[in-house]
Amino acid sequence: MKRMVLRAVRGVLISVSVMAGGLHSMGGLGFGHENHPIHMPDPQQTVAFRTYLMENIGANAKEMKGKIDAGQLKEAKMNAAAIAIHATRIAALFPEGSSEDSSRAKAEIWQNWDAFLASATELSTEADALAVAAGENSATAVKDHMQKVFGTCKGCHDQFRKPEQ
Ligand code: HEC
Repeated sequence: MKRMVLRAVRGVLISVSVMAGGLHSMGGLGFGHENHPIHMPDPQQTVAFRTYLMENIGANAKEMKGKIDAGQLKEAKMNAAAIAIHATRIAALFPEGSSEDSSRAKAEIWQNWDAFLASATELSTEADALAVAAGENSATAVKDHMQKVFGTCKGCHDQFRKPEQ
């Protein structure tokens, strides 16, 4: 009896470490710039927290594209919904003047706040539309919205994000 429990526990431990290995090799979700696993920063640490959020948007976008390219549209729905939800938090995570040395946010964000906000809203709207289209297994609409989603990433980064230091 005791032995069986032990074996069951060991089985769980093994599957957990296999899962962790799988996540690690994906190189996305929750890993910092140097690919070390990191905890979610305190939401009060605005720059660290929004970088974590953006990196999670990036990890979801990458996984979403992989699934869509492989024709697994319904599986991509969850990633698109996560991006749509995250995008609704962008505005609150860029309070006026929140640019430290470690941040790539340009001052232009606050000089051109309406355009920045419009871009965040567009990301949320397009990712949400993609999630619906993915749920309906509608390939043409999915591809159309995916192009717009990646267009908003690029558009906002080109205008509002400093080049990598
Ligand atoms: C409304 C503007 C906006 C949109 C839309 C946007 N981003 Fe960002 N993103 C930024 C800004 C600004 C930063 C830099 C924040 C900082 O360093 O303080 C950033 C940072 C990042 C980072 C963190 C690493 C780095 O190099 O700074 C990743 C990854 C990222 N974005 C991916 C994406 C992806 C993928 C999308 C689209 C699915 C997206 N972003 C959409 C503005 C945006």
